[in-house]
Parts: sequence; structure tokens; C-alpha cells
Amino acid sequence: MRKTTKLLIAFAVLFLGIQAIRPEKNVSNDQTYDISKKYTIPDEVNDILKVACNDCHSNYTRYPWYAEIQPAASWLASHVNDGKKKLNYSELLKRPIAVQNHKFEETIEMVKEKEMPLASYTYLGLHADAKLTDEQRLLLTTWAQAQMDMLKATYPADSLVMPKRR
Ligand code: HEC
Repeated sequence: MRKTTKLLIAFAVLFLGIQAIRPEKNVSNDQTYDISKKYTIPDEVNDILKVACNDCHSNYTRYPWYAEIQPAASWLASHVNDGKKKLNYSELLKRPIAVQNHKFEETIEMVKEKEMPLASYTYLGLHADAKLTDEQRLLLTTWAQAQMDMLKATYPADSLVMPKRR
């Protein structure tokens, strides 16, 4: 057999082999600690969160077809896990009020600086509706700011201070 043929076969075997790795899907309908249980989310804001953020920052990911194919499946799962570890809108209410406040602050920062949604999310025309316009970004940051203002008006100032990291 020619060397290139051998190499091709080796790749094919490897490709088929890794298909056996099936990352667990991030899909739960538990709304107990969902952000919407405490904070008002207008439809137009909710629509943005749904198409641009929730795949990585909630307990409900909409999986594209290539999520069934390795190594895309693992790459995608690692983004979801990393994103959720930092910020999970589906479980925001489990966090202390200071942290909830801080997550709104970070949401504003990330959206303003165009760090979110993650650049790779819209590569190659994927998730085209997550390519946010300036108007959508403003809508999102204005909403997050309104939530912070509401918290400030509702809770004593010291309860909104983030505990110092050790
Ligand atoms: C494709 C997955 C993905 C999408 C979509 C996405 N994020 Fe993220 N996000 C991540 C990952 C991964 C991190 C952690 C790594 C980092 O900070 O760069 C993160 C970090 C963050 C953080 C920082 C949290 C912290 O405590 O440090 C905020 C805030 C955030 N994202 C908000 C958003 C918002 C708002 C949207 C929608 C406009 C969004 N993200 C869309 C994956 C994503």
C-alpha cells in the first residue's frame, strides 16, 4: 500500500473511532432559578438572549446538526461548559445578590466591548442572527443597566458589594 493510502485509512479509522465519544447534551427545562423568575425581560431582549447567548449561558442549548459529529461535538460542549461555568442565566438566582448584580455588570461590559457572543460562534456564517447590531447591543446593555438600577434601589448598598477574593 502507498504511504498516502495508509495515512488516509488511519485518519478514517481515527475519525470513526472518535464518533463513539458522545458529550452529554445541555438541555434541561428546570426554570426554578431562571433569571426570568426575578427579573423582567422584555420580549425583544429575550429574543436577543435566545439567539445570541443562551446556547452557552443557560441550561438550554439548541444543537446544530454538526453537534452530532466529532470533533465538533466536543469542541462545542467545551464552549458550553466554559460559558456556563462563568455565567448561567438559567441558574442565576442560585447566586448571592451581589453576584447577580455583578453578572449584569459583566454582561454590559462584554456586550459593549463586543467580546460576546464569542467570535467563533458566528464564524463561517454560523448563527447569523447572533451577529448583533449596535441597536441590539444597546438594547441589551440598557436592559442590564436597568436591572442593576432596580437592585440598587431595592437592596442595601453593602449587600451588592462583591466579596473580596482570597
Ligand atoms: C459560543 C458560546 C458563547 C456564546 C454564544 C456567548 N458566550 Fe459569553 N462566554 C462564553 C465563554 C466560553 C466564556 C468564558 C470565557 C471568557 O471569559 O472568554 C464567556 C464569558 C462571558 C461572560 C463573563 C462572565 C464572567 O463571570 O467572567 C459574560 C458576562 C458573557 N459571557 C456574556 C455573554 C452574553 C451577554 C452573550 C450573548 C450576547 C454571550 N455571552 C454569548 C461563551 C459564549
